[in-house]
Amino acid sequence: MDTLPTDRPPDIRVLAMPADTNAAGDIFGGWLMSQVDIAGSILAFRIADGRVATVAVNNFTFLKPVFVGDLVSLYTRLVKIGNTSVQIAVEAFAQRHRGIEESHKVATATLTYVAVGEDRRPRPIPKQ
Ligand SMILES: CC(C)(COP(=O)(O)OP(=O)(O)OC[C@H]1O[C@@H](n2cnc3c(N)ncnc32)[C@H](O)[C@@H]1OP(=O)(O)O)[C@@H](O)C(=O)NCCC(=O)NCCS
Repeated sequence: MDTLPTDRPPDIRVLAMPADTNAAGDIFGGWLMSQVDIAGSILAFRIADGRVATVAVNNFTFLKPVFVGDLVSLYTRLVKIGNTSVQIAVEAFAQRHRGIEESHKVATATLTYVAVGEDRRPRPIPKQ
């Protein structure tokens, strides 16, 4: 069992649904990757003060499986601000009931987002 971060709320909490499963009946890794990207983009959007594009997903690690009915919480942390890019670390936790409630860290990744303008080209990250 793992402990959820207590110093900040999750950026996203979402229930894993039957529609999100793979052929074996567990939650599809691509679904979790999507939630991680969305969570990271929320913080990136705030830092960039507008539109961002995901340019890289690094060190994506699936630590434990996610099951239908798990409550998945995603926590983000700013790693680095560059000229036009921002690097965000994301941790995903699943809470599930097996008689008692269990929390498990299920995935981690570091993503890079680029601030883009109307023309979809990189623009500088505003001074924080
Ligand atoms: C994001 C995009 C606009 C960047 O354009 P680009 O011409 O490659 O931009 P640059 O080479 O000037 O790099 C911009 C920043 O991204 C960083 N970057 C580029 N490629 C990177 C990579 N593979 N990993 C990490 N950072 C990267 C650069 O270091 C730079 O950061 P900095 O300005 O903070 O130093 C362009 O690559 C793009 O449109 N990609 C598709 C994005 C997308 O559709 N994502 C969703 C996929 S479904």
